[in-house]
Amino acid sequence: MHQDNISINNRGHLVFAGFDTVELAREYGTPLYVMDERMIRDTIAMYRVSMENYYQGRGLVCYASKAFSCKHIYRVCREEGIGADAVSMGELYTAMEAGFDPALICYHGNNKTPAELEYALDCGVGRIVADSFRELDLLEEIAARKGRKAGILLRLCPGIEAHTHDFIRTGGIDSKFGFAIELGIALEAVEHALSKPHLELRGVHAHIGSQIFQLEPFRREAEVLMGFLAEVRAKTGAVLSDLNLGGGFGIRYTQADDPVPYGQYMEAVTQTLKETCAGLDYPLPFVIMEPGRSIVGAAGITLYEIGNRREIPGVRTYLSVDGGMTDNIRYALYGAEYTFTVANRAGGDKTLTAAIAGRCCESGDLLAKEARVQQCGPGDILAVFSTGAYNYSMASNYNRVPRPPVVMLLDGTAHLAVRRESLADLVRNDL
Ligand code: LLP
Repeated sequence: MHQDNISINNRGHLVFAGFDTVELAREYGTPLYVMDERMIRDTIAMYRVSMENYYQGRGLVCYASKAFSCKHIYRVCREEGIGADAVSMGELYTAMEAGFDPALICYHGNNKTPAELEYALDCGVGRIVADSFRELDLLEEIAARKGRKAGILLRLCPGIEAHTHDFIRTGGIDSKFGFAIELGIALEAVEHALSKPHLELRGVHAHIGSQIFQLEPFRREAEVLMGFLAEVRAKTGAVLSDLNLGGGFGIRYTQADDPVPYGQYMEAVTQTLKETCAGLDYPLPFVIMEPGRSIVGAAGITLYEIGNRREIPGVRTYLSVDGGMTDNIRYALYGAEYTFTVANRAGGDKTLTAAIAGRCCESGDLLAKEARVQQCGPGDILAVFSTGAYNYSMASNYNRVPRPPVVMLLDGTAHLAVRRESLADLVRNDL
């Protein structure tokens, strides 16, 4: 893996963010999530600065905290001067516990409960992203009861769906998310929201996909949403200010992945906005971007200890590790690919092709079917790169496996952001 914070020391050990990963595994145990906090902070700063450079700061970067949520990451975002996207009461609660400014939070979800909406209003969330007529009615009722006004955005389905290597301009209507622009439902939703005295409609939002490597779908999204805002102005007279374009910028999991430098998304989108707004004679909107994966993904690795090595002659070699789908479900769920290295033999050639198996009672519990690694066996430490996003946040206690801790590395110091779950933690809610 070619990344500035990855190297090999003279003991042949993998070094991550200046730390010998074999030592980290020894000190904190395995499985272990390790994150380079300096890299996270630098990426956040890059997004913030590119918003300033390309758009004179008329916007807000909101970290999509579903990618990795714990109190510490909200503190990092707060210190680095960005907002956050939360999608459940749990993420919102965690942000609040970390002292995050609720005015800088976008609160998402396609089926928020009345209790969640009430909690979001009580917290003082700046933008609740409404996703249904029912939600608009519920919000109006709750806000009226509290004598408050709720700042809202509407989630739209812009008819663009992007995947890693292509995007569909007219796809995406068949979705559980958002009011479809094409069917006229989005305009109806705007009119509905504008008619509610306790709702302050600040703008619109869309999210077109994740792990995207192209600029074009984002440009197209900006155009489509601006076209919609102009239509809203023409039909209702309302000039809405906020344009939340969601996240989705891709990262490198394997050498085949070729991410666009993230500043380029901001450059491309803001350039499109300037052109489109000039053409429509519409004031430049306040832009919100919601990167998740690209802020934390490549800044994380996972360390495991290899246990059994099973050779099935002529078939496959299996390396079993002390974690698996409980700490990284992405291979089982999406067939996601990763890059592996044996941390204590990192200098060696990768001459072994092996399946990496987890420890759950489930044959689908794999991290890879054909990983390339150095020759290795029981007691060796296996490192998996780019596990900072959607690994810890999607971890489970299947088979009552405790979740691993998260250790943060910052400028030569290591500190725990999340401690290892104990066996006692596992039965804490059992009666
Ligand atoms: N904003 C909204 C409204 C979203 O739904 C998402 C991701 C993001 C922002 C952040 O997208 P990102 O920059 O992280 O791509 N579990 C999947 C990813 C699901 C993403 C869902 N929404 C995975 O492990 O690949």
